[in-house]
Amino acid sequence: MSGDAAYERVTAYVEDEIGFATSHYNDSYLQRRLASRMRRTGAADYDEYFEILAGNEEEAQALLDAFSINVTGFFRNPDVWEGIRGVLRDLSAENEHVYVWSAACADGREPYSLAMLAMDDPRVDAEKFHFYGTDINDESLATAQYGEYSSSRTVDIEEQLSFLSNFHAYVERDEDSFRMREGVRRKVTFAKHDLINDDPKSGFDLVVCRNLFIYIDNEYKQPILRTIADSLKPSGYLVIGKAETIPPQLKSAFEVLDGRLRIYRRD
Ligand SMILES: C[S@@+](CC[C@H](N)C(=O)[O-])C[C@H]1O[C@@H](n2cnc3c(N)ncnc32)[C@H](O)[C@@H]1O
Repeated sequence: MSGDAAYERVTAYVEDEIGFATSHYNDSYLQRRLASRMRRTGAADYDEYFEILAGNEEEAQALLDAFSINVTGFFRNPDVWEGIRGVLRDLSAENEHVYVWSAACADGREPYSLAMLAMDDPRVDAEKFHFYGTDINDESLATAQYGEYSSSRTVDIEEQLSFLSNFHAYVERDEDSFRMREGVRRKVTFAKHDLINDDPKSGFDLVVCRNLFIYIDNEYKQPILRTIADSLKPSGYLVIGKAETIPPQLKSAFEVLDGRLRIYRRD
C-alpha cells in the first residue's frame, strides 16, 4: 500500500474502531504521535503498524495515550490568571451559585488552579463556586481525582503555586510531591467528556478551554467552540489558550473582553 493510503488506513481504523476522531486533528500532530508508537513497537511503516494495531486492545490503549497531549501546569500563563481572577470576582459578586468548567483539563491542574484561586482571593466567595473538570483521557482523569503532583527537573510546582498568597493552605507537601488538600479536591468534580463527540453541557458561567485548539484542524474548531458556546449561560465567560483564536464564523457569538488574554463573553 502507498504511504498515504497506509496512513489513511491507520487513521480510519483509529477513528472507526477505537473511537478517537483522528479526522479532526492536524496530520503533522497525528504523524508525530504515530511515529512514537511505531518506534516503540518496531513497526517499519504504517502497514506494519496497522498489522500490530488491528484487534490489539493493549496497543489501542497505548496509542490513545500517545494521542493525548497532556502538557499542563498550575497557573499556566500567570497573566491570564490575573484576568481569570477578575472574572471570578465579577461572578462572585453577581451570583448565588457559580458553575465553572475546565474543558480538556488534562490531569486536573487547571481546575484545581481555578478552585484554589477562588478560595485564595478575598474578593471571591468560594462557597458559591462549583468546579468541573473534563477530559477524554482516563489516566489523566484518575490522576486528577487523586490530586497529587510531583516536581521534576523541568517542572517546579512550588514556583507555579506561588501565584497564590499561601499555597500551603490548599496543598499538602511532602518533599517533591504536592497533594491537593481534601477541601480543594471536594470543590472539583471530574468526568469524562469528549468535546468532539459528546453533547454540550449547559448552565456554565465560565468555561476555560485552553491548549486543545492548537492541535485541532481549523474546520473542526468551530463545532467544538459551538459545543462550548451552547454550554454557557447567556453572558457566560470563555477563556481559550493564549496562542489560540476564535474562528471567524463564531466571532459574532462572543464579545472580546481581553483580546490579549483571550477572555470572551457570550453575546
Ligand atoms: C495540552 S492539554 C491542555 C490542558 C489544560 N487545559 C492546560 O491548558 O494546561 C490538552 C488536553 O486535551 C485533551 N483532549 C484532546 N482531545 C480532546 C477531546 N476531543 N475532548 C476533550 N479533551 C480532549 C487531552 O487529553 C489533553 O489532556
